[in-house]
Amino acid sequence: TGYTALDQGFVNTASTKSAITYIDGDAGILRYRGYPIEELAKGSTYLEVAFLLIYGELPTPDQLGEFDEKIRRHTLLHEDLKHFFDALPHTAHPMSVLSSAVSALSTYYEDSLNVHDPEQVEISTIRLLAKLPVIAAYAHKKALGQAFLYPDNSLSFVDNFLKLNFGTMAEPYVVNPVLSKALDRLLILHEDHEQNASTSTVRLVGSTEANIFSSISAGINALYGPLHGGANEAVLKMLADIRDSGEGVAKFVERVKKKEEGVRLMGFGHRVYKSYDPRAKLVKESADEVLEALGVQDELLDLARELEQIALADPYFIERKLYPNVDFYTGVIYKAMGFPTRMFTVLFAIGRLPGWIAHWREMNADPATKIGRPQQLYIGPPERHLDR
Ligand code: CMC
Repeated sequence: TGYTALDQGFVNTASTKSAITYIDGDAGILRYRGYPIEELAKGSTYLEVAFLLIYGELPTPDQLGEFDEKIRRHTLLHEDLKHFFDALPHTAHPMSVLSSAVSALSTYYEDSLNVHDPEQVEISTIRLLAKLPVIAAYAHKKALGQAFLYPDNSLSFVDNFLKLNFGTMAEPYVVNPVLSKALDRLLILHEDHEQNASTSTVRLVGSTEANIFSSISAGINALYGPLHGGANEAVLKMLADIRDSGEGVAKFVERVKKKEEGVRLMGFGHRVYKSYDPRAKLVKESADEVLEALGVQDELLDLARELEQIALADPYFIERKLYPNVDFYTGVIYKAMGFPTRMFTVLFAIGRLPGWIAHWREMNADPATKIGRPQQLYIGPPERHLDR
């Protein structure tokens, strides 16, 4: 038509149709394949929800057993891939380690290049679900300078992950059911969120018919940024800074309102939710339960509560419809579980993986998919010529 509409940041433009997740941002509603997030968070598990997102229906007990079993059988990393971690400094941010290692997976599984072969898509799905938590735990161990453990396939998905992170060869690992349950619930809350920046990245890369490992590695990089998944890490840094500087919550909020450079209330605001993020409600409940059950007292949780109370009563935040998002309280829980701050966004990535896979598969299976190729409005110099 010759007419190109400008929509910077995709505020009004849908990039795709999708049957996976429904959000009503004004009403604070989130549903996966039609099921309200509140019901799934209370009554199901990470793997069940992963199955729901990827295959469209909740699994029968047999289907779930088979899915779980397949994932357990693929947890090992190739021994050579383990040496990959040796090439990185122990100070490496685990999100960079994660995206690089997932990208490297496609060098081991070149069958994944055959993106239209359903069998290859299926085995790549299982490999990703099985191996991402192992890579994540190795990124953590690498930072600690501790030996990598082999996965223990007698354990559930979440317990295996916790053992890989917190177990050592020196003593037996004791599963803490409070921790497992809480982590499983947090992962469910992160499993999908329709066309967010990382998922859109996965789809865009996938639309070129790049394999699923490369597409998801790109999604992990998009998630890394502090305006997206990196916000959970940024929230904890913000709370610790408020505590250490002694400036007090009210003063900090004043600086946010003055829009001092680089000062935002991290964990607040959302492109889609213009009311309380339904995930944040559930995380807030979990924060109280988990800290109590683990016997942890954290002044940062008190600061977070105070910050929320002040912000929710302030016209600046009311007018702009800024409410706590999913990242506001998660960091406090991850910290109580023993994860270092730099692992927080990695936990988000493990949570989001089933969503990324579901979207990649939906895009890949849709005959209407075209390579993603946005237009631009050119604002550079008009034609000019070399003066020679
Ligand atoms: N603190 C202070 N002011 C804010 C904040 C905030 N966290 N978020 C938005 N605003 C203000 C912003 O300054 C603008 O004000 P004005 O109209 O006076 O210019 C107004 O609210 C609209 O903001 P926006 O930046 O145009 O909104 P957006 O939809 O482009 O951005 C966002 C959404 C999530 C990037 C943003 O709210 C933000 O930076 N939040 C902090 C980071 C964060 O918590 N991110 C996690 C999002 S949820 C999980 C995830 O995706 O990973």
